[in-house]
Amino acid sequence: MEKLIIEGGKPLYGEVKISGAKNAALPLMAATLLAPGRHFLRNMPNLRDTRTFVRLMENFGVKSERTGDVLMLDTTHLDHTEAPYDLVKTMRASVLVLGPLMARFGRAKVSLPGGCAIGARPINFHIMGLERLGVTCTLEGGYVDARIDGPLRGNVIYFDVPSVTGTENLLMAAVLAEGTTVLKNAAREPEIGNLIDMLNGMGARIEGKDTDRLTIHGVKNLIPADCSIIPDRIETGTYLIAIAATGGTGTVTNCNPAHLPSLLEKLRAVGLIITETETTIAVGWPERADKRRVIGNVDIKTMPYPGYPTDLQAQFMALMTLSSDTCVINETIFENRFMHVAELHRMGARIRVDGHFAVVTGGGIDGMKGAPVMATDLRASSSLVIAGLAASGRTEISRIYHLERGYEDLVDKLTGLGAKVWKEQE
Ligand code: EPZ
Repeated sequence: MEKLIIEGGKPLYGEVKISGAKNAALPLMAATLLAPGRHFLRNMPNLRDTRTFVRLMENFGVKSERTGDVLMLDTTHLDHTEAPYDLVKTMRASVLVLGPLMARFGRAKVSLPGGCAIGARPINFHIMGLERLGVTCTLEGGYVDARIDGPLRGNVIYFDVPSVTGTENLLMAAVLAEGTTVLKNAAREPEIGNLIDMLNGMGARIEGKDTDRLTIHGVKNLIPADCSIIPDRIETGTYLIAIAATGGTGTVTNCNPAHLPSLLEKLRAVGLIITETETTIAVGWPERADKRRVIGNVDIKTMPYPGYPTDLQAQFMALMTLSSDTCVINETIFENRFMHVAELHRMGARIRVDGHFAVVTGGGIDGMKGAPVMATDLRASSSLVIAGLAASGRTEISRIYHLERGYEDLVDKLTGLGAKVWKEQE
């Protein structure tokens, strides 16, 4: 296995280009199952998770071809509809094939994803929604066996919690259903808007994009897609926070500031100067007479979009360990998303966790010291990278396969910003 070595304490300067969004690429790949033919997905990031998803699609008989950042998926000849445990257990988002397989074939057998480091990650809303559309779901041997005779039947579905992949799965299930489906209390993340644009471009009739009420008028069939994946807002936020934590100045390009309303306000609240254009965000600290860098502090409460994203909670916590005061971070989405805290403690952070709350007492900009730490999940590991970049001395992060799931060309992009970072064999 590989580890990441960081010689910290160097401000980051310059530009970094954002890749396509992992959490849009996965549902958009699943949606190609809805229509036979050659589909083209542009701005496709090359990540461990997208490569795993391609393997899952090939397992159904899909043919794939990548040319630069364009992925072609040919879904003409699909020979079976089972997603095996050994593929699904490594990537929960595999559950996204359930909806499109049901819509196209009326049957699917998908392994239950199982939990992960950040929580139990149930899929009861996905199952509930399919059953509302007339599907019979049997849970046995760790698999969901879903079947229906004839097309799915439109209905009203209410989400107790606005589930992102739950909304995506049921959108894809409903586009070929008989009649109209209404999703109430649906999630509104930008990745769902990207999926809606793709599906409508394939001939679907979906209304209510970017709202919590989606109306889907079923159609008879769809045509192959040719569409672009939106920039990754979580990668964008990760680099903005990394530049800020190191006391640097930089510009994130090929991004969409409109997808980060909450984070940009929080970064301004701690004293940063943020300048936006349609596709770039510049970040830096104001000049101070005493030349010192003082990071303010602000409380965070993670919420469904457009609230503060849970996927940027760990990264912001790393920034707050360098602030000059105390803040409270309230993680309301997942039950175990503070795995990064024990590792940040090893670098000198002062953080107290009590259930869904973490109280961070900043130690000032020199408060963190490099140390060997271990990545536990995708976003926790990016929090350790940020802490290592800001800390003085050397940080070694093990199990970096977590990082490679969601950050394309991380070492090259950080090196391009002036960081001293490289990989070594463990
Ligand atoms: C998506 O996961 C993202 N993954 C996650 O990003 C992200 O953290 C999450 O949304 C929240 O924004 C992808 O898009 C591939 P949810 P998802 O269903 O859809 C509960 C990353 O780092 N729930 O919106 O699985 C659930 O336990 C990943 O890129 C049920 O109870 O999340 C959670 O508490 C991590 N039953 C809440 O709802 C269900 O059937 C929100 O989960 C579904 C969800």
